[in-house]
Amino acid sequence: MTPENINKLILEAKEARKASYCPYSGFAVGAALLTADGRVYRGANIENASYTPTVCAERVAFFKAVSAGERKFKAIAIVGGNADMPISDFTPPCGVCRQVMSEFCGGDFKVILSDGNTSKLFTLAELFPEVFTLN
Ligand code: THU
Repeated sequence: MTPENINKLILEAKEARKASYCPYSGFAVGAALLTADGRVYRGANIENASYTPTVCAERVAFFKAVSAGERKFKAIAIVGGNADMPISDFTPPCGVCRQVMSEFCGGDFKVILSDGNTSKLFTLAELFPEVFTLN
């Protein structure tokens, strides 16, 4: 991915974060998922008074895309932090989201993190090695 494409996807994740529903944690996360043919699906975390139904931004983006028929993905950008503050730290995806990514993506899928200033790029293989499969 070019630095321009990376920055564009981070901007989409920042926009997605604005829709976060996080009254319990106050931690707002945004994700932007890039498909193989260039479409972007946005996700934001959605919390619940019963806590466990909460869904992370990354999974919202994946489930929107998969339920729209998408199956091939290139990269995801993720940003997060206190809802009332500008982004100031990196937000790596939780383990459950890494498992969901591994269902639909190979090890070369890119995970892009931004602290609002600089970005870090990982492959899914780096973040989630030795994937469980039923094969
Ligand atoms: N969260 C995400 O959206 N993505 C992650 O990868 C980690 C955590 C959300 C869930 C919850 O709404 C809030 O951040 C605090 O855990």
